[in-house]
Amino acid sequence: MSIRDIEEVILAFGEAARRSREAGFKVIEVYAAHGFLVHQFLSPLTNHRSDEWGGNESNRRRFAIEVARSIRKYWPENFPLIFRLSATDWIDGGIEIEDTIETAKCLSLEGVDMIDCSTGGIGGKDRPRRMKVSQGFQVEFAQRLKEEAQIATMAVGFLWDPEFCEGIVEKKEADMVALARELLDDPNWPLHAASQLGADKDYGLWPEEMGWWLDKRDRFLKKLGLR
Ligand SMILES: Cc1cc2nc3c(=O)[nH]c(=O)nc-3n(C[C@H](O)[C@H](O)[C@H](O)COP(=O)(O)O)c2cc1C
Repeated sequence: MSIRDIEEVILAFGEAARRSREAGFKVIEVYAAHGFLVHQFLSPLTNHRSDEWGGNESNRRRFAIEVARSIRKYWPENFPLIFRLSATDWIDGGIEIEDTIETAKCLSLEGVDMIDCSTGGIGGKDRPRRMKVSQGFQVEFAQRLKEEAQIATMAVGFLWDPEFCEGIVEKKEADMVALARELLDDPNWPLHAASQLGADKDYGLWPEEMGWWLDKRDRFLKKLGLR
């Protein structure tokens, strides 16, 4: 990208924030992870520039910071601004969690409220050898960012069990959790989770027109001893 391209894209992020505001959106999350443009600037694996946009850590961070600043010009202070970051590239010579802690501190100073804490997605299509997937395998990064960058975090990636998710928030490892594929599989997951965790006893959280039916069926099935 030429310097002019860079400046144009930064401005376009701000303009997009302005249009989002006008269109009535209440939250912006910038996808700065998984090999998309902001991540490409942040990671030494992809940023080989030798001008003020690359070459060292603070130069590689400049684009993300300028994007946040540009958005904040048009995005009201009391409206949440979230950045999704890849906390580590899982590849030697790439971004490590310590780099991301510094990035999060810088973004926080620009008015970013929360980091959605993912990992990887750069350096080719094969899963990096260092990346070992299990339920909540990225939570430790959300926790470190929360503690060491003093910023709110969202834990994400391979989360599906309600009690496991509740534990993350309860133990203050992150401020919230985000799910994607589990919600594709079960769009009513939040309601089922609420029920499993004892927060919804009689379908009271469901839309009224469905809740009363399900509650009625439940009571009937219990009376018959079928459930
Ligand atoms: C429809 C869909 C498309 C996605 N596309 C990408 C992608 O292009 N690159 C990527 O790194 N992750 C992608 N993801 C993963 C998400 O970024 C997200 O981190 C993940 O789905 C959240 O974890 P979970 O689905 O295990 O809850 C995608 C997920 C979904 C559901």
